[in-house]
Amino acid sequence: MTRVLVTGAGGFIGHHLVKYLVEKGYWVRGVDIKEPEFEATQAHEFELLDLRRWPCCLQATRGIDEVYNLAANMGGIGFIETHKADVMHDNVLINIHMLEAARLNGVGRFFFTSSACIYPGYLQKSAEVTALKEADAYPADPEDGYGWEKLFSERQCRHYWEDYGLETRVVRFHNIYGPLGTYDGGREKSPAAICRKVALAEDGGEIEVWGDGQQTRSYCYIDDCVEGIHRLMRSDHREPLNLGSDRLVTVNELIDIVEGAAGKKVRRRYDLSKPQGVRGRNSDNTLLRKVLGWEPAITLEDGLGETYRWIHGQLELTGRIGATPVTSGT
Ligand SMILES: NC(=O)c1ccc[n+]([C@@H]2O[C@H](COP(=O)([O-])OP(=O)(O)OC[C@H]3O[C@@H](n4cnc5c(N)ncnc54)[C@H](O)[C@@H]3O)[C@@H](O)[C@H]2O)c1
Repeated sequence: MTRVLVTGAGGFIGHHLVKYLVEKGYWVRGVDIKEPEFEATQAHEFELLDLRRWPCCLQATRGIDEVYNLAANMGGIGFIETHKADVMHDNVLINIHMLEAARLNGVGRFFFTSSACIYPGYLQKSAEVTALKEADAYPADPEDGYGWEKLFSERQCRHYWEDYGLETRVVRFHNIYGPLGTYDGGREKSPAAICRKVALAEDGGEIEVWGDGQQTRSYCYIDDCVEGIHRLMRSDHREPLNLGSDRLVTVNELIDIVEGAAGKKVRRRYDLSKPQGVRGRNSDNTLLRKVLGWEPAITLEDGLGETYRWIHGQLELTGRIGATPVTSGT
C-alpha cells in the first residue's frame, strides 16, 4: 500500500484530496495546523503540525512514499492583497522545509500546488483575455506576494529534480471551488462569497459586488480538481501544468448562474474600491489535454448548484437564515 502525506489536509482542497486518495486505496496521513472545519477527516492518521517549523516537516514526512504539499497561508483576493509579508514568510518556510524533509526521508514523489497567480500581470489587463499557457509565466511579473512565492517554490521543485532526482510535479490551479470550502470570514473566494451573499439576500434584494462585475475568470469544480491532481502525480510530466476550466465568464455571469441555483433575482451594488485582482484570466488547457488525455468536465451550472446548496445549508445550520427549500437551477 503506497503511503502518502497530504499537507493542508484540514483545508478545502486537501480535505477533498484525502477522501479521494483513501477511496483509491492509498494509506493517507493528513497534516495541518487545524482540523477540517466542516466534517471529520478520513485520513488514516491526522497530525496537527506547524509546517513552517523544520522538525515538524521531518515528522510529517517520516515513512512516506509520496507527498501532496497543499499547506499554505492563503485566501481570496481580499486576504492575499493585505497579508503579503505573512503569506510570503509562511509559504516560503513551508515549501522549502517540506522539499528538504521529503528528500532526507527518501520520499519518491513530491506534488506542489502552485497557482494561476504566477502569470504575469501584463498579460491580464483586459477582460477579453487570451487564455494563459504554461510558457507564458516568463518574463516574470506575478501577483505581488502570494504569486512571487509560488513562482519561487516552482523553481525550487525543478532544482530538487535536477540536483537530487526528486520526482516533482507542479500544478497551477485556476480558481477551484465547491462545497466544504471557506465561505465567510475574509479568506473566502468569489464563488463562495457570491453564493453566501445571494443565499442571505431576499428575492429582489441587493448584494454588494467587488468591482464592476465585468472582470473575467474561469472556475474549476473540486471533483475535477482532485482527479486532475492524481492524474498529474501519476504522469511523467515534470514541468508546471495548468489545472482549471477554460470557460471564461464575467463575475456578473457567475452571479446569474448562482441566481439560477437559488431561484431568486438580486440587484447588484458595485463597489469599485474593493480589491479585484487582474482584469481577466483564463486557463489554456492545450497542454493539460495533451499530457493527461483529460480535462475538467463538470459544468459551472452543476458545480455552483452543489456549492450554493451546501453554503445555504451551512447558513441554515448556523441560524443565519430560516430553513427554506432551495430550488435547483440546474
Ligand atoms: N483554492 C484555489 O482556488 C487555489 C488556487 C490556486 C492555488 N491554490 C493552492 O492550493 C493549496 C490548497 O488551497 P485551499 O484552497 O485548499 O486552501 P485552504 O486555505 O483551505 O487550505 C490550506 C491549508 O493549509 C493549512 N496551513 C496553513 N499554514 C500552515 C502551517 N504553517 N502548517 C500546516 N498547515 C498550514 C491551513 O490551515 C489550511 O487548512 C494551497 O497551496 C493554495 O495556495 C488554491
